[in-house]
Amino acid sequence: MPDMEETIPIKDEYDIVTARSAGKTIASSTGFGLVDQTRISTAISELARNILRYAGTGTVYVRQVTADGRNGIEVVAGDQGPGIANLDLAMTDGHTTGGGLGAGLPGTKRLMDDFEIDTEVGRGTIVTTRKWVQ
Ligand SMILES: Nc1ncnc2c1ncn2[C@@H]1O[C@H](COP(=O)(O)OP(=O)(O)OP(=O)(O)O)[C@@H](O)[C@H]1O
Ligand SMILES: [Mg+2]
Repeated sequence: MPDMEETIPIKDEYDIVTARSAGKTIASSTGFGLVDQTRISTAISELARNILRYAGTGTVYVRQVTADGRNGIEVVAGDQGPGIANLDLAMTDGHTTGGGLGAGLPGTKRLMDDFEIDTEVGRGTIVTTRKWVQ
C-alpha cells in the first residue's frame, strides 16, 4: 500500500494550497476519515506557511508509510532558512517572532501523532510528522 507520495516545492501562497490538497488526497487514500484528513491538511498548511514566512522557500514531502502493520501518512517540511534558535520557545503556545498567533508548531504537534524537529541556526529546519490510521 505505501506507494503514494508527493513533493511540493513551497515558494508562494498557491503552493500552500497545493500541498494542503495533496495531503488530503493521500490521507483519504490511506484510509483516514474526514476529520483526520482535515487535521492532516491543517498541519501541512501550518508547516508550509512557516516555510514561506520564515525561510522564504522550501519543500513539503507527503507520503504513505507503514510500520508495525499500521498504515499512516508522513509529512516532512524542510527548508534552508535561518533555523530556530530556541526550540522550547518555538513550541510554546503563543510564542511568535513573525507577528502570528504562535499556534502553528504546537498546534501541528497536537494534530499529528509523531512530531520531530531538526533545526540548526543558519542551516535550516526539517519538521517530520506522522499520523497513523486508528
Ligand atoms: N521553518 C522555520 N524556520 C525558522 N523559524 C521557524 C520556522 N517555523 C517556525 N519558526 C519559528 O517558530 C516560531 C513559532 O512558530 P509557529 O508556527 O508556532 O507560530 P507563528 O508562525 O509565529 O504563528 P502562527 O503559526 O500561529 O501564525 C515562529 O514565530 C518562528 O520564530
Ligand atoms: Mg506558524
